Amino acid sequence: MTSDRVHGFAVVGCGVIAPIHARCIASLPAAELRAVVDVVPERAAQLAAEFGGEAYTDLAAALARPDVDVVCVCVPSGLHAEVGVRAAQAGKHVICEKPIDITLAAADRLIAACREQGVKLAVISQHRFRPGVRRLRAALEAGRFERLILGNAVMQYYRTQEYYDSGDWRGTWALDGGGALMNQGVHYVDLLQWVMGPVEQVVARTATAAHDIAVEDLAVGIVTFRGGALGTIQGSTAVYGGLREALEIVGVGGAVMLEAGEVTSWRFKDERGAGDAASGQEGQAPAEPVATMADPAALRITTHRAQIADLLAAIAADRDPVVTGEEARKPLEIILALYASARTGREVTLPLAATR
Ligand SMILES: NC(=O)c1ccc[n+]([C@@H]2O[C@H](COP(=O)([O-])OP(=O)(O)OC[C@H]3O[C@@H](n4cnc5c(N)ncnc54)[C@H](O)[C@@H]3O)[C@@H](O)[C@H]2O)c1
Repeated sequence: MTSDRVHGFAVVGCGVIAPIHARCIASLPAAELRAVVDVVPERAAQLAAEFGGEAYTDLAAALARPDVDVVCVCVPSGLHAEVGVRAAQAGKHVICEKPIDITLAAADRLIAACREQGVKLAVISQHRFRPGVRRLRAALEAGRFERLILGNAVMQYYRTQEYYDSGDWRGTWALDGGGALMNQGVHYVDLLQWVMGPVEQVVARTATAAHDIAVEDLAVGIVTFRGGALGTIQGSTAVYGGLREALEIVGVGGAVMLEAGEVTSWRFKDERGAGDAASGQEGQAPAEPVATMADPAALRITTHRAQIADLLAAIAADRDPVVTGEEARKPLEIILALYASARTGREVTLPLAATR
């Protein structure tokens, strides 16, 4: 369901990801960019010059505008809840970049504020909107995997030292909340748990292998899912050039592999004829390498736009968006558990206490 009403948007944080939001807003007939906010005035001015809207350095002034209905939170990860809570308290719907924030306590504050104020909260997990991922999810919902036994997420990305040096929050525990897992890896940790279900226990090792940063650029984890399946999570930003981005899901009834979000292997015992096979089978060429594996600015807007459109439809229908705050909390908790295991050398059992 969609609404003809045009929703006013504010983008808060005018860095690398902000133009993606601005382009999505420009491409949606029911959306209009009315305010852009950054603590650095030139950044706000530049985004406004390119995409329209009024430039602000004062968040309160932008939130005071009655013609702003939705706020896109595009500030560093450790500030998501702070900005999102203020937006919610001003009565605005919130689209929050991933991860929801970097602690469970902050995530809970944002979730509670949006629920209490009766505004929608959507957290970006744009890969959920890729056709291959949706097809995988449909196979799961149709029961074709039967009992799931194995799920692997492989995220072998590359980021230069210049990338980490390009913002004083990047690669810090205080504002990035972690490295290859918390920043880049959260996408596929989300996909993994979306398909495999809740995680019971994790054990992990992390390393800072190829960068001068405080956080990990290499992580390997073993996961036990509550349903009994096993899994692995491998995340890195130290794999030169970016090698592989894959999700492998195995059930008793079949096995599917997605590479770069495209189905590259699709085998089910209940094979459903040519159509089933043709759309992703043996012999199919591997997907094109994803530009973002080595360059974070190379994002296309299609999936972000689908998620923002989903939020507008959720507002119109007064339903939850596809990726709620509660959903986005799940990969955050798994990543925090992996970090806790790497730190202590012990297996960590979920749920974690939301102490901070
Ligand atoms: N979904 C994706 O694929 C994707 C890709 C890139 C980044 N992101 C996420 O987007 C967020 C921003 O990342 P980025 O790469 O654009 O960072 P960035 O450093 O390029 O931009 C952040 C901007 O926020 C501004 N800022 C900081 N504190 C502020 C405040 N209190 N109020 C207003 N503005 C403030 C900074 O001046 C900066 O311009 C991160 O959480 C990141 O994880 C998501």
